[in-house]
Amino acid sequence: MKEIICLGIESTAHTFGIGIITDKGKVLANASDSFKTEKGGLIPNELAKHHNEVKEKVLQDVLEKSKIKLNSIGLVSFSQGPGIQPALLVGLNFAKEIASKLKVPLVGVNHCCAHLEIGKLLTKAKDPVLLYASGANTQVIAYEAGKYRIFGETLDQGVGNFIDAFARYIGLGFPGGPKIEKLALQSKNYIELPYVVKGMDVSFSGILTNLKRKYDSKQFKIEDLCYSLQETVFAMLVEVSERAMAHTGKKELLLGGGVACNKRLQEMCSIMCKERNAKFYALPNEVLVDNGAQIAWLGVLQKNDATKEYDKIDIKPYERTDDVKVTWK
Ligand code: ATP
Ligand code: FE2
Repeated sequence: MKEIICLGIESTAHTFGIGIITDKGKVLANASDSFKTEKGGLIPNELAKHHNEVKEKVLQDVLEKSKIKLNSIGLVSFSQGPGIQPALLVGLNFAKEIASKLKVPLVGVNHCCAHLEIGKLLTKAKDPVLLYASGANTQVIAYEAGKYRIFGETLDQGVGNFIDAFARYIGLGFPGGPKIEKLALQSKNYIELPYVVKGMDVSFSGILTNLKRKYDSKQFKIEDLCYSLQETVFAMLVEVSERAMAHTGKKELLLGGGVACNKRLQEMCSIMCKERNAKFYALPNEVLVDNGAQIAWLGVLQKNDATKEYDKIDIKPYERTDDVKVTWK
């Protein structure tokens, strides 16, 4: 059978990305451009404007990197949700434009499932628990009875948004995660913070208020606050991940999402896995953050759902991981 090459478009939030992958799972190229600010956060219409401005350039970039001609693409996929509506629409429309120009089928995929599937592809993990820690999402996910179930999640904001909110408060700009990580490396002085795990769920808003108050009091060093922030919230994430592994009897842990780039979080996960004789898989940053390759790969897995009736396809900004029926396993 002829090989199918899939082009996948990611645009759920700040990153506009395109990836190209073969149906055997060989990533041919990944290209992206992310919206960044020195101050302030994400504004939905500004994101859409950014994505519209960079989409053609990202397409050229990924085609050049992959050495593939556009007309060798046999399938197009895009991130259908969850995400920010104006940003998602840019991806949908660009995907429709490319698919209809090439007269190839189009399929919409779930962004969270895509994080998990690219992790499985690249690590050869068989049946892992996924700790998905990004800006907007924080979930512990595992497969059970036809669906990726959410075993634990944030009750308020995603861990990345929480970190970014504190970073913004102390004037570090967006994204705050890497800057907080750098500052945290300069301290080993733990300052007590609230530790909020409720059953299998976590919550960050109380910790954020506490951190802001401590910062305003001028009695603490920024490095110490950053260090304590990481130690506290990462311990919370590791605790709920471990509980999900114990509950499901699964022996593998995967990380996904931008916060998973954090070396301290990776280290804490790896220690936990070692202690319970489980395997921990670290992935390159490029596929931890939002990227087109993961969308392309889930497109391949869901190729039977693809259609040329483009009008029937829309975005799903509020789709939850456990709304998706896993038809591809
Ligand atoms: P999603 O749509 O999946 O919620 P997202 O739009 O938040 O994703 P990602 O690229 O997965 O995008 O994650 C971005 C987040 O990751 C930001 O909040 C950023 O601060 C955080 N981040 C990136 N690098 C690090 C790091 N080294 N340490 C901690 N957080 C990090
Ligand atoms: Fe993501």
